[in-house]
Amino acid sequence: MTDRGRSALHEGEVLVPAVTEWTMEMLDAADLRPAPLPRVEMTFTLSGLPSPEVNRALYAAVGARVCWTDRFPWTYADWEAWVDRPELSTWIAMAEGTIAGFFEIEAQPGGNTEIHLVGLTHPFVGRGYGGYLVEQCTRRAWQRGELWARGTGRATRVWLRTSTLDHRHAIGNYRRRGFRVAAETTAPKPVPDPRAAPWPLPHDPRVVAGDMEELIT
Ligand SMILES: CC(C)(COP(=O)(O)OP(=O)(O)OC[C@H]1O[C@@H](n2cnc3c(N)ncnc32)[C@H](O)[C@@H]1OP(=O)(O)O)[C@@H](O)C(=O)NCCC(=O)NCCS
Repeated sequence: MTDRGRSALHEGEVLVPAVTEWTMEMLDAADLRPAPLPRVEMTFTLSGLPSPEVNRALYAAVGARVCWTDRFPWTYADWEAWVDRPELSTWIAMAEGTIAGFFEIEAQPGGNTEIHLVGLTHPFVGRGYGGYLVEQCTRRAWQRGELWARGTGRATRVWLRTSTLDHRHAIGNYRRRGFRVAAETTAPKPVPDPRAAPWPLPHDPRVVAGDMEELIT
């Protein structure tokens, strides 16, 4: 979200006129609703060594098509400072012998536990893995203090942000798993060109993400 106007757009950015962002939360682990099991087993591994390279690669591989661009300006030192913290955990999802997705969760003060990023790599989207990925991510978020971020206390609230720039199934998936909308805002957002990462995409996902007739460059 931003209040930068057209004149302040940086090179390669477009102003997406109306991006709706939802804050979603789950206040009780009992509210988590399981997803159907994927046809092929999906496993989840907690990353044991902080790696700016790995998190950055996953961010680009999963996020480019849904305009995850906020971290584009991050330097190596920024990524290092982000991942090298005991309160942040990165989980890698494997299926069919390859990386199917990942998630980043953070133990915050007061029992708040934020799902910063969760998503599938492109070949796995739309094949019945996404519900299970979010279910398993949310389960692990509720296990904060025991399974990861030990000693930080139990989770009392699991929360995340999603927007109309994310995959069109994202919000429905969160609702189906038991998340509720806690807040909603709509505002224009300047979005850098995600086609640069990891390499040029066949189309501009900023156009697909909403009513972009007024896309301003
Ligand atoms: C969001 C994402 C995880 C969903 O995965 P998916 O493979 O598209 O969806 P799945 O087929 O596994 O279905 C999961 C849920 O999505 C919803 N969904 C799936 N197909 C749908 C459709 N045609 N219409 C509406 N909702 C649909 C349902 O809620 C479904 O849950 P259910 O089976 O319990 O009903 C995946 O698209 C993704 O990772 N995208 C890229 C990154 C991203 O956008 N992450 C979210 C950031 S907040």
